[in-house]
Amino acid sequence: MDEVRLSSFIESLEQPKDPVLENIRKEALQKDVPVIRPETEALLVFFLKAFKPERILEIGCAVGYSACVMAYTCPEAGIDTMENYAPRIPEARANFEKAGLSSRVTLYEGDASEILPDLTGPYDFIFMDAAKGQYIHWLQDCERLLRPGGLLFADNVLSGGDILEARTTVDRRNRTIHKRMRDFLYEIKHSSHWESAVIPVGDGVSVSLKQ
Ligand SMILES: C[S@@+](CC[C@H](N)C(=O)[O-])C[C@H]1O[C@@H](n2cnc3c(N)ncnc32)[C@H](O)[C@@H]1O
Repeated sequence: MDEVRLSSFIESLEQPKDPVLENIRKEALQKDVPVIRPETEALLVFFLKAFKPERILEIGCAVGYSACVMAYTCPEAGIDTMENYAPRIPEARANFEKAGLSSRVTLYEGDASEILPDLTGPYDFIFMDAAKGQYIHWLQDCERLLRPGGLLFADNVLSGGDILEARTTVDRRNRTIHKRMRDFLYEIKHSSHWESAVIPVGDGVSVSLKQ
């Protein structure tokens, strides 16, 4: 199966987006800022509409595109997000302003590993989309912060399929990232604290219900 063609086909089924969102996405891509893939976004929006969360936490804001998508999808929700790469922070704030969302989105500046322990739940929904090698380390905080029955939606969990590659064929840095991601996937699938499914959409998504 040709995954690139399949992905383009799925993308071609998408409806045109809100022009404000489209513009934020376009500008981000022009500057090589990573944003959620369209087919992953469709799945995220699907879960948000099914879940109707009131409090959403995002780990990995970049310039705020997915936070705007989540805020538009859940018009009553408050969203907390975080970003540690300084140049992206003013851009994210400008995008929240442009989208009329500054009052509903709180952007924490800094490293998720330092921010998460200070946050207080409960959140209904967590979107994890930052350093892949850290997912396993952030899992405990996600569990603490989610309400029972809350959903953890994690992106990039299959590294676009690279996670399947043999240990010896990937460089040392990616070897560590892949090992930690496999640990994350093992934990969410085997722990009695989570009910999880791994979905090969985009770079791979996992969805986990806190038991
Ligand atoms: C894939 S991008 C997020 C894209 C965004 N969710 C979207 O779809 O619009 C990941 C972002 O997480 C940030 N990040 C990576 N590690 C982080 C950490 N430890 N703490 C906070 N942010 C982090 C990166 O700087 C990057 O901007």
